[in-house]
Amino acid sequence: TGYITLDTGYKNTGSTKSAITFLDGENGILRYRGYPIEQLAEQSTFLEVAYLLIYDKLPTQKELDQFISKITQHTLIHEDMMKFYEGYPSKAHPMGVLASMISALSTFYPESHKSELHPDEVELTIIRLLAKVSTIAAWSYKKSKGFPLMYPQNRLSYTENFLHMMFAQPTEEFKVNPVVANALDTLLILHADHEQNCSASTVRMAGSSHASLYAAISAGVCALWGPLHGGANQQVIEMLQRIQAEGGNVEKMVEKAKDKDSDFRLMGFGHRVYKNFDPRARIIKDVCDKVLNELGIDDPLLDIAKSLEEVALNDSYFVERKLYPNVDFYSGILYRAMNIPTEMFTVMFALGRLPGWIAQWKEMRDNKEPISRPRQIYVGANERDYVPISDR
Ligand code: CMC
Repeated sequence: TGYITLDTGYKNTGSTKSAITFLDGENGILRYRGYPIEQLAEQSTFLEVAYLLIYDKLPTQKELDQFISKITQHTLIHEDMMKFYEGYPSKAHPMGVLASMISALSTFYPESHKSELHPDEVELTIIRLLAKVSTIAAWSYKKSKGFPLMYPQNRLSYTENFLHMMFAQPTEEFKVNPVVANALDTLLILHADHEQNCSASTVRMAGSSHASLYAAISAGVCALWGPLHGGANQQVIEMLQRIQAEGGNVEKMVEKAKDKDSDFRLMGFGHRVYKNFDPRARIIKDVCDKVLNELGIDDPLLDIAKSLEEVALNDSYFVERKLYPNVDFYSGILYRAMNIPTEMFTVMFALGRLPGWIAQWKEMRDNKEPISRPRQIYVGANERDYVPISDR
C-alpha cells in the first residue's frame, strides 16, 4: 500500500534506466548507443546497427562478418511451420500472422522458456529471431497473395534476401534493385530502436515475468500493430489515398483532425516525446525525394503529403500543440515506391524494430530487473453484500 502516484500513459514516469537509446524530444535528437541517427542512416547498415544496439559496440569487420554469417545460417524456418500458413484466412492481416508465428517459434525451441538462461542459449535465440522474422514476414505477404513461398537465398545480403523472398517467383529470375535495397536498409536503421515506446515497454514488461524472448517479441509485435503506434504508417497512406479520391482537398482533412467531436487524428502527426521535429521524419523525407527520383517514380501521394504537411504546420491548432510529422508520415511513400503493399507497412516497422526490442529485453534481463507490476488507484464500488440471482 502507501502513496501511489497516478500517471496514466506513463507520460512522466521512467520505467527503467537504459543505456541503449538517447532521445531529446525538445531538440529532435536521437542516438543509438551514443551514435547520432543521421550518421548511422548515412554510413551504417541495418545488421551493423542491430549489432550495435544488442552488444553495445560497433563491430570490427570480423565480428560483423561472423554475426552476419550466423544470421544467414538460421534464415530457414522449420518446415512444419510452413503448414501453419495454410491455416490463416487469405485476408489475414500480416501483423496477426507475424505475431502468432513468432509466438509459435517458442514451441520449436522450448529451452528458451527457462527462467535461468545460459548466455549461449540467449545468443542463439537472438540470432534465430533476427534471421527468421524476415522469412516469416515475407512469407506472410506471399500467403496473402496465394503465391508460392520463396526460400531464403544465403548468397544475398539481409535486405536483398528479404526483397527476394517478397518479390521473387520460382518461374523467373529476380534481380534486386540496389536503390531499393539501400533505401530499405536506411528505413530499417531509422526504425531500429526508440527507447521506452509502447512496444519496447511491452517487450520489457512481458519479458519481466521471464516469459521467453519469443513470447516477449510477439507481445511487442501486437503492441506495435495499433494505429497510434506502428500501425500509423498504414493509416497515413490510406488517409492520403482518401484525400486523393476526394479530389485532393487537404484542408478538409486538417479540419477533420481538429474536430474534437470526432476521434479522427491526422495520421503520421504528433509524438509523445518529439515536440519540435522528429529527426527520423526529416531523414525519410529526403530519402523519399532521392529514391523516387532515382527510380523515376512520380507518386501523387508524395505531393499530397507535402501539401498536407504545409497546411498543418501553418495551422495554429498544430503549432500550439507542437504536432509535427513523425517517422510514419513519409515512410509509407517509400514503401510504396518499393512495391511493398500497404498492409505490410507495419510489418516493415516490426522488422526494423526487432533489434531494438531484443536489446531492450537483454538489458532488462542482464540488469536483473524485477517483474513489472504497476499499481492503481481503485475507484470501484465499496464493499457490498452478494445478492442471490433470484433477488436481483
Ligand atoms: N491529429 C490531431 N490532433 C492530435 C494529433 C493528431 N495526429 N496528435 C495529437 N493531437 C492532439 C490531441 O487531440 C491533444 O489535443 P488536446 O490537448 O486539445 O486534447 C493534443 O494534441 C495532445 O495529444 P495527446 O494525445 O495527449 O498526445 P500523446 O503524447 O498522448 O499522443 C500520439 C501521441 C503519437 C499517440 C498522437 O500524437 C497521435 O495519435 N498521432 C497520430 C498517430 C501517429 O501518427 N502515431 C505514430 C507515432 S510515431 C511512430 C511510433 O513511434 O509509433
